[in-house]
Amino acid sequence: MAGAAPTHVELAAVEQTSDDALVSKASAERLGYFDDEFLHVFMHENKQTPRRRAPLINRGYCARFRVFDDALQGFLAAHGAGACNVVSLGGGSDTAYFRLAKEGNTPARYLELDLPDVASRKREIVSRRPELRALVEAYPGVYSMETCDLTADDDRLEKTLRNACDIALPTLVLSECVLVYVAPEHSRRALTTVTSVFHKKAYVLVYEQIRPHDAFGAQMIQNLKSRGCALLGIADHETCEAQAARLKACGFDEAQACVDLKECYDVCLSREAKARAEKCEIFDEFEEWTLMMTHYAVAAATNAPGGVLSPVLLAEGAAAGGGGDGPTG
Ligand SMILES: C[S@@+](CC[C@H](N)C(=O)[O-])C[C@H]1O[C@@H](n2cnc3c(N)ncnc32)[C@H](O)[C@@H]1O
Repeated sequence: MAGAAPTHVELAAVEQTSDDALVSKASAERLGYFDDEFLHVFMHENKQTPRRRAPLINRGYCARFRVFDDALQGFLAAHGAGACNVVSLGGGSDTAYFRLAKEGNTPARYLELDLPDVASRKREIVSRRPELRALVEAYPGVYSMETCDLTADDDRLEKTLRNACDIALPTLVLSECVLVYVAPEHSRRALTTVTSVFHKKAYVLVYEQIRPHDAFGAQMIQNLKSRGCALLGIADHETCEAQAARLKACGFDEAQACVDLKECYDVCLSREAKARAEKCEIFDEFEEWTLMMTHYAVAAATNAPGGVLSPVLLAEGAAAGGGGDGPTG
């Protein structure tokens, strides 16, 4: 049974998480943790005030940025730019398409999906800003941002995937801090739709909060709740094992790997990325770092026979994993 539909206020709070992620990524980028010239365009257009986050948060967002960027780059390299799709569930103000397009490294289709207000605001920004519009027009038919509520009781997700993607191609589906905001039945339905539309060709990367039951986890939930955001999915997928099991149950049955963000940072991030991050700011919060980073899961899976997961989760040690305050947005 589906839960009650979210109220207008609850929806607005969830949509607001897109700006939270944007502001925090922009904070880390400004301090040199990674490069992304487009974050500041979206900051300006979304009327967000630049903020300097704490070193712990900046480093956490850097890890998150690297995990997704490395996965995307690895996927495009493995399957060939132009010969695969990328789908970003709850894309928000994410800038990945524009970074790829600037490098001339676009997939055949890059589809972003989000709630109506977020999707229409992003479409307006893209058409208003010449540098973004040019990167869309340079690759006709590749990029689209469509409205799709993952909690809606209809077949819009399936229709949009079929219309906007080439379903014959391998497809990487990204869920960067998104599925945790919807109830388990909705995340499962969305993931199952993905594996049935991209039959034996789907890859997925999910990043989200886990471990709600210890003191840090309870504080993390409370912080979001106080801003009107419930992590509706966390209780059913609260460990790395449960994350991997959800993916398997939804048809990603060829391979699953899930590690927490701490292990991902330690094992999967490149030495260069870590060296760069570690010289950006004075940092002595090592206990808090471990605590925070072990409350986020990075889960990857595929339904492609013999499919190779993204290199970010292929590093030795990571693939074997089967199963407060932090980078919340
Ligand atoms: C924390 S933000 C992450 C945005 C982006 N993935 C990133 O990491 O920068 C969560 C995003 O999920 C979207 N979202 C939440 N619930 C959704 C739903 N039911 N259907 C579609 N999108 C949803 C929000 O609007 C928001 O853009």
